[in-house]
Amino acid sequence: MKELISLSNIVKRYRSGESEIRALDGISLSIGQGEFVAVTGMSGSGKSTLMNLLGCLDLPAEGTYLLDGIDVTTLTDRQLSEIRNEKIGFVFQGFNLIPSLNALENVELPLTYRGLAKRKRRELAEKALCSVGLETRMTHKPSQMSGGQQQRVAIARAIAANPEIVLADEPTGNLDSASGQEILSILTSLNQEGKTIILITHDPAIASKTNRKIKIKNGRVSADRMQKYESLPS
Ligand SMILES: Nc1ncnc2c1ncn2[C@@H]1O[C@H](COP(=O)(O)OP(=O)(O)OP(=O)(O)O)[C@@H](O)[C@H]1O
Ligand SMILES: [Mg+2]
Repeated sequence: MKELISLSNIVKRYRSGESEIRALDGISLSIGQGEFVAVTGMSGSGKSTLMNLLGCLDLPAEGTYLLDGIDVTTLTDRQLSEIRNEKIGFVFQGFNLIPSLNALENVELPLTYRGLAKRKRRELAEKALCSVGLETRMTHKPSQMSGGQQQRVAIARAIAANPEIVLADEPTGNLDSASGQEILSILTSLNQEGKTIILITHDPAIASKTNRKIKIKNGRVSADRMQKYESLPS
């Protein structure tokens, strides 16, 4: 398996008044292409901080991060956003859709930053929405969709440009368990199609459905286990 992500001795600090928080306190780990990884840990343990670094939204104070062999800690902001646009799709707990835009327009929006022509953007957005089962909801606005459907739009937006990696921070956190299972099964199929998926979750039932579980405690990796895919309920 090709190594896609390699972190060594990553430290990230935040100032809080006089004191300093080491949100990440020496994280080293490696993730191969095609893995489906769950990141778990208590609130405040550093999961979102780790996700922001993995997603090139932020840089560490110390340590190195190789993404597909590129040391991202040496890149300029512009290069960071290029690599992020090319390689990574994000999914968040709160969906982060734009309320005034319909599903299709929400999915198309980030494609405009890639300099794609209008027709190509539309084609990719429609394909992504179909792949998450929303072919009949393309012109609905977020307020006209259920939470699960909104999260499917957000997944379509994340995958429309065909990134290698999908980073999802508590994507099922605002959903009931049936919609959560639907989101999980979409992420599972994306993984089976070859995407590397990194999923932050509080939910042990969700974490057990991936093939590797990394636990974060006080900004460090406290456990890292491979596990068998548990089959999803049909
Ligand atoms: N922008 C910030 N400024 C200051 N401190 C921060 C900032 N972001 C996070 N922290 C602190 O860093 C630590 C790790 O936060 P992080 O958001 O990564 O935790 P988390 O594991 O994602 O928690 P949760 O499960 O609640 O989302 C916490 O102590 C938090 O208060
Ligand atoms: Mg968090």
